[in-house]
Amino acid sequence: MTTPVAATPQAAPAATAQKAPRRRTALVTGATAGIGKAFAVRLANDGWDLVLVARDAARLDEFCQALTQTYSVRATPLSADLSTSSGVESVEARLREEAFELLVNNAGLSLNTPFLKSSVEQEEYLLSVNVHAVMRLTHAALPGMVTRRSGNIINVSSVAGFAATMPGSTYPASKAWVIHFSESVGLSVARHGVKVLALCPGFTRSEFHSRAGIDMSKTPNWLWLQAPNVVDAALKDLGKGRSVSVPGWKYKVLVGFMRHTPTRLLRRFARTARVRTGRDTE
Ligand SMILES: NC(=O)c1ccc[n+]([C@@H]2O[C@H](COP(=O)([O-])OP(=O)(O)OC[C@H]3O[C@@H](n4cnc5c(N)ncnc54)[C@H](OP(=O)(O)O)[C@@H]3O)[C@@H](O)[C@H]2O)c1
Repeated sequence: MTTPVAATPQAAPAATAQKAPRRRTALVTGATAGIGKAFAVRLANDGWDLVLVARDAARLDEFCQALTQTYSVRATPLSADLSTSSGVESVEARLREEAFELLVNNAGLSLNTPFLKSSVEQEEYLLSVNVHAVMRLTHAALPGMVTRRSGNIINVSSVAGFAATMPGSTYPASKAWVIHFSESVGLSVARHGVKVLALCPGFTRSEFHSRAGIDMSKTPNWLWLQAPNVVDAALKDLGKGRSVSVPGWKYKVLVGFMRHTPTRLLRRFARTARVRTGRDTE
C-alpha cells in the first residue's frame, strides 16, 4: 500500500512528459529505533526520499546506507541532539532550505524517576526533546508548507497524554501538550492545505523503556503494539484528515475510558496501577 499523504500528482503537459515525477521528501526525528525507524522503513518502501535525525551518527549512517541500497531512495543522515539549541537549529535550518512534504516529530523519552526524586536537569531534558524541539521544528516547517499549500506533520504523542495516569511523572504532561498543540496548530493551518496529526500509541516494542530503565517484564503481551502497525494506523488516519490517531482497538477503548471516567475514579486507578507495577516510589 502506498503512503496516503501525498498531494495528488499533476497530469504532466505533453512537452514535459519526459520529466521525472516530483520526489517527495520526509524528515523523521528519532529515526534509528522503534517507531521512528518503522516510519523510515515504511516511507522508503513507498518511495519517499528521507532526511533522518538521531544522535548516534554511526548508527544513523549505517541505517541510511541500508535504506538507500534496499529501496533506491535518497536517505540522508542528519546527526543532531534535539535536547540542545545547536542540535535543534541544525534541523530547523534543514527544514527551511528544502521542500519537505512530511515532518515526523517522533524523538522522545521518558524518565523512570518520580518528580520529587528527579533533578530539574532531568525534567528539563525531557521537556526539551518531548516539547521544545517539537514546537521549534513544527514552527520551522510550517511556513514553507503553507506557501506551497501542501504538507503534513505527524507529532508523536502517547495514550499517556490523555490523563494523569502516571503519578509523579512529567511524561504524560509533555504528551498532553503534544496532543493539544497538534490539534490547535492543525486547526489553524488546515485552510492552507496542511495537515497536522497527533499520533498517540500505547506500549510499543522499541528501545524506549530500556533506555529509561523501566522494567516492563510484567506488562502482558496483548498490550504491546508493533511499530510498523502504529505507523500504518498513523498514515491511514492522516490520509483520512484526522487530527488524532490512537492505533489499535484496545487502546481506542482505553482512551475512551480515560476521557469519560470521572477524575476521582481515574486517580484511584492510576495509583493502583503504579503500585502494581512496582513504580510507586513516591
Ligand atoms: N515505545 C512506546 O511504548 C511508546 C508509547 C507511546 C509513545 N511513544 C513515543 O514514541 C516516540 C518514539 O519512541 P520509541 O519507543 O520509538 O523510542 P526509542 O525506540 O527509544 O527510539 C528513540 C529514537 O529517538 C532518538 N533520540 C533519542 N533522544 C534523542 C535526542 N535527544 N535527539 C535526537 N534523537 C534522539 C534515538 O536515537 P539516538 O539515541 O541515536 O539519538 C532513537 O532513534 C517517543 O516520542 C515516545 O514518547 C512510545
